[in-house]
Formats: sequence, structure tokens, C-alpha cells
Amino acid sequence: MASPVIAVIGAGNMGTSLIGGLINDGYPPDKLWASNPHQEKLSQLQHNFHIHTTTDNTTAAQSADSVILAVKPSLIATVTNELRPIIQRRKPLVISIAAGIRETTIQHHLGGNIAIVRAMPNTAALIGCGATALHANRHVIPDQHNMAESILRAVGTVVWVDREELIDTVTALSSSGLAYFFLIMEAMQNAAEELGLPQETARLLILQTALGAARMAIESGMTLAMLRQHVTSPNGTTEKALSVLEAHDIRGLMKKTLQAAKLRSEELATIFGAER
Ligand SMILES: NC(=O)c1ccc[n+]([C@@H]2O[C@H](COP(=O)([O-])OP(=O)(O)OC[C@H]3O[C@@H](n4cnc5c(N)ncnc54)[C@H](OP(=O)(O)O)[C@@H]3O)[C@@H](O)[C@H]2O)c1
Repeated sequence: MASPVIAVIGAGNMGTSLIGGLINDGYPPDKLWASNPHQEKLSQLQHNFHIHTTTDNTTAAQSADSVILAVKPSLIATVTNELRPIIQRRKPLVISIAAGIRETTIQHHLGGNIAIVRAMPNTAALIGCGATALHANRHVIPDQHNMAESILRAVGTVVWVDREELIDTVTALSSSGLAYFFLIMEAMQNAAEELGLPQETARLLILQTALGAARMAIESGMTLAMLRQHVTSPNGTTEKALSVLEAHDIRGLMKKTLQAAKLRSEELATIFGAER
């Protein structure tokens, strides 16, 4: 099957990563369009990837099978209102990566009956190591389902959620979750420094330990609980350390952490929805 034409509207950080990921995967550059208000940015995209570029969003979307909305959430209303005529005429798959903007808000601006996939990537997508959750509305047909999945897979792992409200939980887990790991690593590094290790030594060891833990979990096929038990000898150092974490209710703390982020995600979505 011929590669679908993809238009990235607002090719900034995330849009450029998507384009870079697709090109690295061998996507034909002549099937990719990018729009951005800055000619300098477009020249850079053209130079790096040999794709079509334009400052005009409608021109970018003119032959697109999939239109990716990659502008900031505050610009979604402006851009979708602008794209409404071309999208109503061609009925492409619309993929929105804008955080916190509900499908109903996008549908409202586009005039209705449009196949829309909401994507919630995280910042690690910028280095091709993202974790993205997708939700499709009822207009999305199987081919478009596959199209959305293969586009987002260019920047990392992709999962589907069947209810849009679960995107708020995804935001709390994998979008904000990067920062939880940074904080935990920072706290471990600081503790190791206080116990005598030089800063750089502690930093390198904790980063490699985090990477090792993630790779072991991905590659072993074991559950996280099994892996934990595997590295915990009875009466050993790890058991002693884990008993401190459990005594301070690490599980309850993580539950409260995710609940707080999910609540904030719901509040922000309400604010963006009300602005339409
Ligand atoms: N970055 C992340 O880690 C991340 C993670 C999850 C979701 N997202 C979502 O991804 C989207 C893009 O984020 P980003 O970090 O890539 O933002 P970004 O770097 O600011 O990219 C957006 C680009 O759109 C351009 N733009 C502004 N007005 C436009 C218009 N009317 N038409 C077309 N393009 C226009 C911007 O130009 P100016 O610079 O002049 O404004 C900018 O270059 C956001 O909705 C965000 O919620 C991002």
C-alpha cells in the first residue's frame, strides 16, 4: 500500500521529532508536509529531511490522509478553525497531540463527523524513546487506526486506551511520570553523596541503575514484583532498604501522587474546553 500523506501542523519540538522518527524509519519524505510560521524553521526541516514545507496550514493539509495537530494547546482553536474547510472537504484522519484538549473540543472546531485520534506522548518522544497512549473516536476506521499507531511508533512505544478519560490517568503516569523518576534519582544521588560518593560517581551509577532496571523489566518478560523478589536476598541489604520504603508507605504515596496529577489534568481539560 502507498504511504499515506501526513501533514504536521505546527512543526516545533514534538512535530519535528515525529518527522525525524518517520524519516529514520524510512518514510518517504515526499509524503510528509510540515507547517510553521517561521521560514527559518521550515528551511531547517527541508535541509534535514527533504520534506515539503509551508507557512500556510491549509496548504500543508491540502492532500493529507492524516493531519497531525502539533501546536500548543492554546492554539488548537485557531488552527482547527482555519483547517475546518479543507478537513471537511477531504475528511483526513486528525491526530491531536495537544495536552488536555478533549476530542469534543477539536470536533466542535472542525465542524463534526471527523475521525480523530488523541495522542498523549511524553517528552522522551523527543529522543525517540517516548511512551504514547492513543484514543480513537467512533469515526476512526481500522486503516486509520493502524496509520495513527505507526506514526506515533516512530517516537517510541504506543498503547491504546478505549475510554478518552483514561488519557488523564496516562498523563499522571507516563507524561508526568518522567519527573517522578528524575526526583527519585535526584534523591538517591543526594543520599549517596551524603554517604561519601563523589557527585559524578553517584550520578553515573544511579542513571545506569535506572536504565538497567527498565531494560531488565522490558527484556526479561518477568513481572515487576518477580524482578524485585529476584534481586532481594533474604536478610540482605536490599530487603532492609525495601522494608524502609514499605514502612513509609511508598505504594500509598505513589497512589496519592498519580491521583493529584490526574485531578490537575482533568481541571486543565475543563479550562481548555470552556475556552472554546
Ligand atoms: N514537548 C513535549 O514533551 C510534549 C509532550 C506531550 C504533548 N505535547 C504536546 O505537543 C504539542 C506541541 O508541543 P511542542 O513542545 O512541540 O511545542 P512547540 O515546540 O512550541 O511547537 C509548536 C510550533 O507551532 C508553531 N505555531 C505557532 N502558531 C502556529 C500556527 N498558527 N500554525 C502553525 N504553527 C504554529 C510554533 O511557533 P512559535 O514558536 O512561533 O509559537 C511552534 O514552532 C503541544 O500541544 C503539547 O501539549 C508536547
